[in-house]
Amino acid sequence: MRRRLLISYLSLMLFVVLALALPLGLSFDNAERRRLTSNVQNEAYVFALRTNAALEEGASPQALAELASAFRHQTGLSVVVTDGDGQVIAASGPGEPAVGDALAERREIATALRGRQVTTEREVAGEDVLSVTVPVLASGASGAPVGALRVSSSLAPVTEHTRENWLLLAALCSIIAIVVLLVSLLLARSFTRPLAELSDGAARLGEGDLSVRVRVPDDPPELNRLAQSFNATAERLETLVRSQQAFVADASHQLRTPLAALSLRLENLEAEDPEFRVDDLDGARREVQRLARLVEGLLTLARAEETHAPSGPVDVASIVAGRREAWRVAAEGHGVQLVADVDAPPVRSVSGRLEQVLDNLISNALDVAPPSSAVVMEARREDDHVRLEVRDAGPGMTPEQRARAFDRFWRAEGSPRREGVPRGGGFGLGLAIVGRLVKADGGTVELADAPEGGLAVILRLPMADVPATAGV
Ligand SMILES: Nc1ncnc2c1ncn2[C@@H]1O[C@H](COP(=O)(O)OP(=O)(O)OP(=O)(O)O)[C@@H](O)[C@H]1O
Ligand SMILES: [Mg+2]
Repeated sequence: MRRRLLISYLSLMLFVVLALALPLGLSFDNAERRRLTSNVQNEAYVFALRTNAALEEGASPQALAELASAFRHQTGLSVVVTDGDGQVIAASGPGEPAVGDALAERREIATALRGRQVTTEREVAGEDVLSVTVPVLASGASGAPVGALRVSSSLAPVTEHTRENWLLLAALCSIIAIVVLLVSLLLARSFTRPLAELSDGAARLGEGDLSVRVRVPDDPPELNRLAQSFNATAERLETLVRSQQAFVADASHQLRTPLAALSLRLENLEAEDPEFRVDDLDGARREVQRLARLVEGLLTLARAEETHAPSGPVDVASIVAGRREAWRVAAEGHGVQLVADVDAPPVRSVSGRLEQVLDNLISNALDVAPPSSAVVMEARREDDHVRLEVRDAGPGMTPEQRARAFDRFWRAEGSPRREGVPRGGGFGLGLAIVGRLVKADGGTVELADAPEGGLAVILRLPMADVPATAGV
């Protein structure tokens, strides 16, 4: 990823630099040549005027040679002058023809003798030379060419200058390239670092390190969201696994006690006189029943965490009536009256959940309700939910006890042990189950003081015709 980003940055930079530097270098090159050409041209015309004046004054060949040599001396340019027939009458400079040489055949001389200026580049003694050939025009109206004049300059200084210029451009481009490379590296790093952290985090999570969290970058928003959801996923996973671990640990711990009691009784059976075996057999059976109830409670608790079960409308009145009937005999055995007072619309729940909730609450209430008291189940509509209360006239609970009541396996100090009593478990699982089942249906549960003097368990359950909001 980083390499790809770098390649794209650098190729873009290369394109921009080349697109700017090449035309810049070439135009400098051209400007240098144009400057030299126009310089040589000016000198040629000025000297042509001077040569014409000298010719009209009837200057001797000697005078013309001195003129040419003075010109060379002043300007550093070579010069060759021909008469109207193309024969050299004066020359000065290295590699230039001698006086008397015939140059009429030379294209630039022939063109100049026809009155036109010519600019040429040629090689003289291994050196590139720029020549401007102009006509020497007679003064006066006719202005006809009376000769030709070729002024030449070495191109070496221009080439040197151009070369220096290209080197300077190359150096500049290199500096830009290095700066761009560094900036690109930093940029690419800033993009890829959060990704690398995420992939590291994912790998560690995969290896089982649930505490792993990644840094959430402010920018870009896509990575910000990705990092946030990664952390949220890791957080949830950690909570889930930790709660599962705690659940398994609690469950194993709780299973140990009845199992130990059971194995003790079985050991006694072996050693005992057959006459007394009945007692231990009864005891063992009670322990097995207790174990079965514990396992059932644990299973209910584990299933309460499943949130995929389909929920639908549930008629509170008929369920309360059904539970009242189911617990009637047990309540009568305690001299306790079960009262149902329901006037509420259906709630949304998974089939069977509300029955389990009520069973646990009634079981708890009957454990503490004094004889001749009543356990009241009351349901009313309250805003967009149904408030279902189960109240008793028992001792109630202190605020500290209420705060812990929904913990798994928690029981208040001095709670009656109901070993062997079929209607209750006595494991401290009932309220934990109630809490989770109600929450799974999107409802809430609260413990309060009942007007009857005992505990009021207040459930708030979502009405069936109100869209679901919770349900975790
Ligand atoms: N109606 C109540 N009045 C007073 N205390 C209560 C009442 N209901 C529950 N408690 C207290 O809360 C504790 C936890 O109740 P919970 O139903 O979770 O467990 P349990 O009844 O002891 O055992 P299990 O329900 O697993 O058979 C009880 O042991 C008891 O001390
Ligand atoms: Mg209980």
